[in-house]
Amino acid sequence: MNGGHAKLADWGLAHLEGIAVSGIAELGCGGGRNAEALLKRYPSAKLTALDHSALSVEKTRKTNRKSIAAGRCAVLQGNVALLPFASESFDLATAFETVYFWPGLEHCFAEVSRVLRPGGAFLICNESDGTDEAGLRFERLVDGMTCYTAEQLEAALKAAGFSAVETDHHPDKPWIAVLARK
Ligand SMILES: C[S@@+](CC[C@H](N)C(=O)[O-])C[C@H]1O[C@@H](n2cnc3c(N)ncnc32)[C@H](O)[C@@H]1O
Repeated sequence: MNGGHAKLADWGLAHLEGIAVSGIAELGCGGGRNAEALLKRYPSAKLTALDHSALSVEKTRKTNRKSIAAGRCAVLQGNVALLPFASESFDLATAFETVYFWPGLEHCFAEVSRVLRPGGAFLICNESDGTDEAGLRFERLVDGMTCYTAEQLEAALKAAGFSAVETDHHPDKPWIAVLARK
């Protein structure tokens, strides 16, 4: 999981240029590779990673054990539909290759908005733009997966209360990076 999506994640992270960050929520963290990249990118920030899978939590803890020991990283098991965080706790939330599986997109996005401070940023990064054949093949194979178009993501973000939403398409691949501001 950590290796497979690394190029997509690095392309997505480049969209955070110029955004000042002290508290990060990395949602659907999988193996924890992107938590590690974010901690490296923002050396004075603290990060909380969350995933509903116990195995992902264990892997993310292992990948980020040094940052956990240094008090910069916490890893929790939980569901994005009911985030175990106080309102206005973070200034950046990230979601790499995970919103396909979120239960009730608009409700989950409203949860993300709740835990962001005013002006906070939410980055979604998907390797499927909801129209590509490979993504749609996966959607047919994987139970509970939905490949959203940029327009569907933008509409759900706005309905959930995000004000500014910008999408970038990779020039050669069906990758999308959606950056929303609270
Ligand atoms: C395809 S993996 C991507 C993992 C990682 N973000 C990456 O890019 O490598 C999707 C992850 O989202 C997590 N996930 C799916 N639905 C979730 C939910 N409702 N709440 C929390 N985590 C969820 C899964 O457990 C899994 O670890």
